Amino acid sequence: MIADVVLGLQHGDEAKGKITHQLCSKGNYTHVIRFNGGCNAGHTIYHEGKKFVTHHIPAGVFYGVESIIGPGCVVDPEQFFKEIEELEEAGIPASTLVSIANNAHVITKDHKREDSSDSRIGTTKRGNGPAYRDKYNRVGTRAKELECFKGYLVDIYEELYSNPDAEILFEGAQGFGLDIDHGDYPYVTSSHCTTASALLNGVPPQAIRKVWGIAKIYETYVGAKSFQPKDAVFDTIQRVGEEFGATTGRKRQCNWTDIDTLLKAVRMNGVTDLVFNKMDVLREVGEWKFKSKDKLLHFQDESQVKSWITSFFSNSPTISNVYFSGNKDRI
Ligand code: IMP
Ligand code: MG
Repeated sequence: MIADVVLGLQHGDEAKGKITHQLCSKGNYTHVIRFNGGCNAGHTIYHEGKKFVTHHIPAGVFYGVESIIGPGCVVDPEQFFKEIEELEEAGIPASTLVSIANNAHVITKDHKREDSSDSRIGTTKRGNGPAYRDKYNRVGTRAKELECFKGYLVDIYEELYSNPDAEILFEGAQGFGLDIDHGDYPYVTSSHCTTASALLNGVPPQAIRKVWGIAKIYETYVGAKSFQPKDAVFDTIQRVGEEFGATTGRKRQCNWTDIDTLLKAVRMNGVTDLVFNKMDVLREVGEWKFKSKDKLLHFQDESQVKSWITSFFSNSPTISNVYFSGNKDRI
Protein backbone atom coordinates (compact mmCIF):
# COMPACT_ATOMS: atom_id res chain seq x y z
CA MET A 1 0.00 0.00 0.00
CA ILE A 2 1.24 3.46 -0.91
CA ALA A 3 -0.26 6.69 0.38
CA ASP A 4 0.39 10.34 -0.43
CA VAL A 5 -1.15 13.05 1.74
CA VAL A 6 -2.33 16.53 0.77
CA LEU A 7 -2.87 18.85 3.72
CA GLY A 8 -3.16 22.52 4.55
CA LEU A 9 -0.39 24.20 6.53
CA GLN A 10 -2.29 27.39 7.45
CA HIS A 11 -5.99 28.02 8.21
CA GLY A 12 -7.64 26.20 5.32
CA ASP A 13 -8.23 27.63 1.84
CA GLU A 14 -4.66 27.02 0.73
CA ALA A 15 -5.94 25.50 -2.56
CA LYS A 16 -5.58 21.87 -1.54
CA GLY A 17 -8.40 20.99 -3.95
CA LYS A 18 -6.34 22.29 -6.85
CA ILE A 19 -3.37 20.12 -5.86
CA THR A 20 -5.46 16.95 -5.33
CA HIS A 21 -7.11 17.57 -8.68
CA GLN A 22 -3.76 17.96 -10.41
CA LEU A 23 -2.22 14.92 -8.71
CA CYS A 24 -5.22 12.80 -9.74
CA SER A 25 -4.85 13.89 -13.35
CA LYS A 26 -1.54 12.09 -13.68
CA GLY A 27 -1.15 9.80 -10.66
CA ASN A 28 -1.91 6.11 -10.54
CA TYR A 29 -4.16 6.45 -7.55
CA THR A 30 -6.72 3.73 -6.94
CA HIS A 31 -8.43 5.75 -4.19
CA VAL A 32 -8.80 9.32 -2.98
CA ILE A 33 -9.81 9.47 0.68
CA ARG A 34 -11.01 12.59 2.51
CA PHE A 35 -9.59 12.08 5.98
CA ASN A 36 -11.10 14.73 8.26
CA GLY A 37 -13.86 17.30 8.64
CA GLY A 38 -17.31 17.58 7.13
CA CYS A 39 -19.04 20.00 4.80
CA ASN A 40 -17.41 22.91 6.62
CA ALA A 41 -14.74 22.47 3.91
CA GLY A 42 -15.09 24.18 0.57
CA HIS A 43 -12.78 22.92 -2.15
CA THR A 44 -12.71 25.04 -5.28
CA ILE A 45 -11.70 23.06 -8.34
CA TYR A 46 -11.30 24.17 -11.94
CA HIS A 47 -11.95 21.15 -14.16
CA GLU A 48 -11.84 21.46 -17.93
CA GLY A 49 -12.44 25.19 -17.67
CA LYS A 50 -15.43 24.87 -15.31
CA LYS A 51 -15.49 25.91 -11.66
CA PHE A 52 -16.73 23.39 -9.07
CA VAL A 53 -17.04 23.81 -5.30
CA THR A 54 -17.20 20.55 -3.35
CA HIS A 55 -17.72 20.24 0.39
CA HIS A 56 -17.86 16.52 1.09
CA ILE A 57 -16.82 14.81 -2.09
CA PRO A 58 -13.13 14.18 -2.74
CA ALA A 59 -11.55 15.55 -5.90
CA GLY A 60 -10.82 12.04 -7.26
CA VAL A 61 -14.24 11.98 -8.96
CA PHE A 62 -13.07 14.39 -11.66
CA TYR A 63 -10.61 11.82 -13.02
CA GLY A 64 -12.61 8.65 -12.43
CA VAL A 65 -10.79 7.67 -9.23
CA GLU A 66 -12.75 5.91 -6.48
CA SER A 67 -13.37 8.47 -3.79
CA ILE A 68 -14.07 7.67 -0.16
CA ILE A 69 -15.30 9.84 2.68
CA GLY A 70 -13.11 8.30 5.36
CA PRO A 71 -13.84 7.12 8.93
CA GLY A 72 -12.32 10.36 10.28
CA CYS A 73 -15.02 12.46 8.61
CA VAL A 74 -18.53 13.54 9.55
CA VAL A 75 -21.19 13.52 6.82
CA ASP A 76 -24.38 15.51 6.34
CA PRO A 77 -26.75 13.35 4.22
CA GLU A 78 -28.59 16.39 2.81
CA GLN A 79 -25.38 18.05 1.65
CA PHE A 80 -23.94 14.75 0.44
CA PHE A 81 -26.84 13.97 -1.90
CA LYS A 82 -27.06 17.57 -3.08
CA GLU A 83 -23.44 17.42 -4.15
CA ILE A 84 -23.77 14.03 -5.83
CA GLU A 85 -26.69 15.43 -7.82
CA GLU A 86 -24.85 18.60 -8.82
CA LEU A 87 -21.80 16.66 -9.99
CA GLU A 88 -23.92 14.14 -11.91
CA GLU A 89 -25.75 17.00 -13.63
CA ALA A 90 -22.37 18.37 -14.72
CA GLY A 91 -21.45 14.99 -16.20
CA ILE A 92 -19.17 13.78 -13.36
CA PRO A 93 -20.13 10.18 -12.44
CA ALA A 94 -20.05 10.85 -8.71
CA SER A 95 -22.74 8.36 -7.71
CA THR A 96 -20.68 5.40 -8.95
CA LEU A 97 -17.31 6.66 -7.71
CA VAL A 98 -18.11 7.93 -4.22
CA SER A 99 -18.48 5.87 -1.09
CA ILE A 100 -18.68 6.57 2.61
CA ALA A 101 -16.80 4.60 5.27
CA ASN A 102 -19.45 2.78 7.27
CA ASN A 103 -17.90 4.05 10.50
CA ALA A 104 -17.87 7.75 9.48
CA HIS A 105 -20.22 9.79 11.65
CA VAL A 106 -23.40 11.58 10.66
CA ILE A 107 -24.13 15.31 10.96
CA THR A 108 -27.79 15.48 11.98
CA LYS A 109 -30.35 18.27 11.71
CA ASP A 110 -29.93 18.83 15.46
CA HIS A 111 -26.19 19.29 15.01
CA LYS A 112 -26.79 21.93 12.36
CA ARG A 113 -29.44 23.68 14.42
CA GLU A 114 -27.10 23.85 17.40
CA ASP A 115 -24.16 25.09 15.34
CA SER A 116 -26.31 27.71 13.61
CA SER A 117 -26.40 29.82 16.79
CA ASP A 118 -22.59 29.91 17.20
CA SER A 119 -20.98 33.33 17.40
CA ARG A 120 -18.05 32.52 19.71
CA ILE A 121 -15.83 30.63 17.23
CA GLY A 122 -17.22 31.87 13.94
CA THR A 123 -17.89 28.35 12.64
CA THR A 124 -19.21 27.54 9.19
CA LYS A 125 -22.50 26.56 10.92
CA ARG A 126 -22.48 23.17 9.22
CA GLY A 127 -22.86 21.13 12.42
CA ASN A 128 -19.26 19.99 12.46
CA GLY A 129 -18.43 20.60 16.15
CA PRO A 130 -21.61 19.05 17.60
CA ALA A 131 -21.19 15.97 15.34
CA TYR A 132 -17.64 15.35 16.56
CA ARG A 133 -18.68 16.02 20.15
CA ASP A 134 -21.34 13.31 19.92
CA LYS A 135 -18.88 10.94 18.26
CA TYR A 136 -16.40 11.31 21.12
CA ASN A 137 -19.17 11.21 23.68
CA ARG A 138 -20.17 7.86 22.12
CA VAL A 139 -23.71 8.93 21.39
CA GLY A 140 -23.24 9.63 17.68
CA THR A 141 -24.82 8.00 14.65
CA ARG A 142 -22.59 6.17 12.18
CA ALA A 143 -23.11 6.20 8.42
CA LYS A 144 -24.02 2.50 8.38
CA GLU A 145 -27.06 3.21 10.53
CA LEU A 146 -28.71 5.40 7.89
CA GLU A 147 -30.97 3.76 5.33
CA CYS A 148 -30.26 6.52 2.79
CA PHE A 149 -26.55 5.68 2.68
CA LYS A 150 -27.19 2.04 1.67
CA GLY A 151 -25.41 1.44 -1.60
CA TYR A 152 -22.74 4.02 -0.75
CA LEU A 153 -21.13 2.31 2.23
CA VAL A 154 -17.68 0.78 2.29
CA ASP A 155 -15.68 -1.13 4.88
CA ILE A 156 -12.31 0.59 4.78
CA TYR A 157 -10.40 -2.54 5.86
CA GLU A 158 -11.94 -4.76 3.19
CA GLU A 159 -11.59 -2.08 0.55
CA LEU A 160 -7.92 -1.25 1.11
CA TYR A 161 -6.38 -4.44 2.40
CA SER A 162 -7.87 -6.78 -0.22
CA ASN A 163 -6.14 -4.71 -2.88
CA PRO A 164 -2.35 -5.27 -2.84
CA ASP A 165 -1.89 -2.42 -5.34
CA ALA A 166 -3.85 0.19 -3.41
CA GLU A 167 -2.39 3.62 -4.04
CA ILE A 168 -4.16 6.23 -1.99
CA LEU A 169 -4.26 9.98 -2.11
CA PHE A 170 -5.40 11.38 1.22
CA GLU A 171 -7.17 14.70 0.86
CA GLY A 172 -7.19 16.88 3.97
CA ALA A 173 -9.68 19.56 4.89
CA GLN A 174 -9.00 22.81 6.81
CA GLY A 175 -5.35 23.24 7.87
CA PHE A 176 -2.73 23.01 10.60
CA GLY A 177 -3.71 26.41 12.07
CA LEU A 178 -7.26 25.07 12.59
CA ASP A 179 -6.15 21.71 14.04
CA ILE A 180 -7.95 20.91 17.30
CA ASP A 181 -4.63 20.30 19.12
CA HIS A 182 -2.00 22.36 17.33
CA GLY A 183 -4.10 25.32 16.17
CA ASP A 184 -5.05 28.48 18.07
CA TYR A 185 -7.60 26.85 20.41
CA PRO A 186 -10.52 27.55 20.73
CA TYR A 187 -10.44 29.20 17.26
CA VAL A 188 -10.03 25.84 15.59
CA THR A 189 -12.15 23.18 13.95
CA SER A 190 -13.17 19.97 15.74
CA SER A 191 -10.96 17.53 13.86
CA HIS A 192 -7.29 16.76 13.31
CA CYS A 193 -5.76 18.29 10.19
CA THR A 194 -2.33 16.62 10.29
CA THR A 195 -0.56 13.72 8.53
CA ALA A 196 -1.33 11.68 11.65
CA SER A 197 -5.02 12.32 10.99
CA ALA A 198 -4.74 10.62 7.59
CA LEU A 199 -3.27 7.55 9.33
CA LEU A 200 -6.20 7.51 11.75
CA ASN A 201 -8.34 6.43 8.79
CA GLY A 202 -6.76 2.98 8.85
CA VAL A 203 -3.47 2.85 6.95
CA PRO A 204 -0.06 1.98 8.43
CA PRO A 205 2.58 4.74 8.81
CA GLN A 206 4.92 2.77 6.53
CA ALA A 207 2.53 3.40 3.63
CA ILE A 208 3.23 7.15 3.55
CA ARG A 209 5.32 8.17 0.54
CA LYS A 210 4.84 11.91 0.06
CA VAL A 211 3.29 14.62 2.18
CA TRP A 212 2.17 17.60 0.15
CA GLY A 213 2.02 20.60 2.48
CA ILE A 214 0.02 23.42 0.92
CA ALA A 215 0.39 27.08 1.87
CA LYS A 216 -0.46 30.42 0.36
CA ILE A 217 2.26 33.02 0.04
CA TYR A 218 0.15 35.13 2.44
CA GLU A 219 -2.26 33.85 5.11
CA THR A 220 -6.01 34.02 5.36
CA TYR A 221 -8.40 33.07 8.15
CA VAL A 222 -12.19 33.05 8.50
CA GLY A 223 -13.75 33.06 11.94
CA ALA A 224 -14.51 35.09 15.04
CA LYS A 225 -11.04 36.17 16.17
CA SER A 226 -9.36 39.31 14.92
CA PHE A 227 -6.61 38.28 12.52
CA GLN A 228 -6.08 41.03 9.96
CA PRO A 229 -3.82 43.91 11.06
CA LYS A 230 -4.84 47.50 10.32
CA ASP A 231 -3.08 48.18 7.04
CA ALA A 232 -4.75 48.92 3.73
CA VAL A 233 -2.50 46.42 1.97
CA PHE A 234 -4.54 43.57 3.43
CA ASP A 235 -7.75 44.95 1.93
CA THR A 236 -5.93 45.00 -1.40
CA ILE A 237 -4.75 41.40 -0.96
CA GLN A 238 -8.29 40.38 0.00
CA ARG A 239 -9.71 42.02 -3.13
CA VAL A 240 -7.03 40.90 -5.60
CA GLY A 241 -6.95 37.38 -4.16
CA GLU A 242 -10.78 37.17 -4.19
CA GLU A 243 -10.59 35.98 -0.60
CA PHE A 244 -14.15 34.95 0.21
CA GLY A 245 -15.06 31.68 1.97
CA ALA A 246 -16.14 28.97 -0.48
CA THR A 247 -18.63 27.59 2.05
CA THR A 248 -20.02 30.71 3.70
CA GLY A 249 -19.10 33.58 1.38
CA ARG A 250 -17.54 35.44 4.34
CA LYS A 251 -14.58 37.75 3.69
CA ARG A 252 -11.34 36.03 4.64
CA GLN A 253 -9.08 38.10 6.89
CA CYS A 254 -5.56 38.44 5.50
CA ASN A 255 -2.09 38.73 6.98
CA TRP A 256 1.52 38.06 6.01
CA THR A 257 2.64 34.46 6.38
CA ASP A 258 4.09 33.61 9.78
CA ILE A 259 7.19 31.75 8.71
CA ASP A 260 7.93 30.23 12.15
CA THR A 261 4.45 28.70 12.40
CA LEU A 262 4.83 27.44 8.87
CA LEU A 263 8.12 25.77 9.79
CA LYS A 264 6.38 24.13 12.76
CA ALA A 265 3.67 22.82 10.41
CA VAL A 266 6.27 21.49 7.98
CA ARG A 267 8.14 19.71 10.76
CA MET A 268 5.16 18.23 12.60
CA ASN A 269 3.63 16.89 9.39
CA GLY A 270 6.84 15.64 7.77
CA VAL A 271 6.17 17.65 4.64
CA THR A 272 8.14 16.40 1.62
CA ASP A 273 6.66 18.67 -1.04
CA LEU A 274 5.92 22.24 -0.08
CA VAL A 275 3.68 24.38 -2.28
CA PHE A 276 3.20 28.15 -2.10
CA ASN A 277 0.07 29.22 -3.96
CA LYS A 278 -1.20 32.60 -5.09
CA MET A 279 2.15 34.07 -6.07
CA ASP A 280 0.24 35.96 -8.79
CA VAL A 281 -1.70 37.86 -6.12
CA LEU A 282 1.32 39.38 -4.35
CA ARG A 283 2.85 39.99 -7.77
CA GLU A 284 -0.15 42.19 -8.58
CA VAL A 285 -0.21 43.79 -5.12
CA GLY A 286 3.52 44.49 -5.39
CA GLU A 287 4.51 43.85 -1.76
CA TRP A 288 6.37 40.81 -0.41
CA LYS A 289 6.60 40.29 3.35
CA PHE A 290 6.67 37.56 6.00
CA LYS A 291 6.28 37.62 9.75
CA SER A 292 8.92 36.09 11.98
CA LYS A 293 8.84 36.37 15.77
CA ASP A 294 6.52 39.39 15.50
CA LYS A 295 8.91 41.20 13.18
CA LEU A 296 8.27 41.86 9.52
CA LEU A 297 10.71 40.59 6.93
CA HIS A 298 10.74 42.75 3.80
CA PHE A 299 11.65 41.50 0.33
CA GLN A 300 12.37 43.50 -2.79
CA ASP A 301 10.73 41.23 -5.30
CA GLU A 302 9.44 37.78 -6.11
CA SER A 303 12.80 36.28 -6.97
CA GLN A 304 14.26 37.41 -3.64
CA VAL A 305 11.31 35.79 -1.84
CA LYS A 306 11.74 32.54 -3.72
CA SER A 307 15.43 32.19 -3.01
CA TRP A 308 14.96 33.15 0.65
CA ILE A 309 12.22 30.53 1.12
CA THR A 310 14.18 27.85 -0.68
CA SER A 311 17.20 28.41 1.52
CA PHE A 312 15.07 28.71 4.72
CA PHE A 313 13.47 25.30 4.14
CA SER A 314 16.59 23.62 2.77
CA ASN A 315 17.52 22.79 6.40
CA SER A 316 14.27 20.89 6.90
CA PRO A 317 15.26 17.23 6.64
CA THR A 318 11.94 15.99 5.23
CA ILE A 319 11.59 18.48 2.36
CA SER A 320 12.57 17.41 -1.14
CA ASN A 321 10.75 19.98 -3.27
CA VAL A 322 9.47 23.53 -2.95
CA TYR A 323 7.00 24.79 -5.56
CA PHE A 324 5.63 28.25 -6.28
CA SER A 325 2.35 28.64 -8.12
CA GLY A 326 0.54 31.55 -9.67
CA ASN A 327 -2.17 29.53 -11.42
CA LYS A 328 -5.75 28.70 -10.47
CA ASP A 329 -5.83 25.24 -12.01
CA ARG A 330 -2.30 23.85 -11.54
CA ILE A 331 0.98 24.34 -9.68
P1 IMP B 1 -16.16 24.70 11.99
O1 IMP B 1 -15.14 23.76 11.43
O2 IMP B 1 -17.31 24.95 11.07
O3 IMP B 1 -16.59 24.31 13.38
O4 IMP B 1 -15.45 26.13 12.16
C1 IMP B 1 -14.36 26.33 13.04
C2 IMP B 1 -13.37 27.31 12.43
O5 IMP B 1 -12.75 26.69 11.31
C3 IMP B 1 -13.99 28.61 11.92
O6 IMP B 1 -13.04 29.64 12.10
C4 IMP B 1 -14.20 28.32 10.44
O7 IMP B 1 -14.24 29.49 9.66
C5 IMP B 1 -12.96 27.50 10.15
N1 IMP B 1 -13.10 26.59 9.02
C6 IMP B 1 -13.73 25.40 8.98
N2 IMP B 1 -13.62 24.83 7.78
C7 IMP B 1 -12.91 25.68 7.02
C8 IMP B 1 -12.43 25.63 5.68
O8 IMP B 1 -12.64 24.67 4.93
N3 IMP B 1 -11.70 26.71 5.26
C9 IMP B 1 -11.44 27.75 6.07
N4 IMP B 1 -11.84 27.84 7.33
C10 IMP B 1 -12.58 26.80 7.80
MG1 MG C 1 -11.70 26.12 1.36
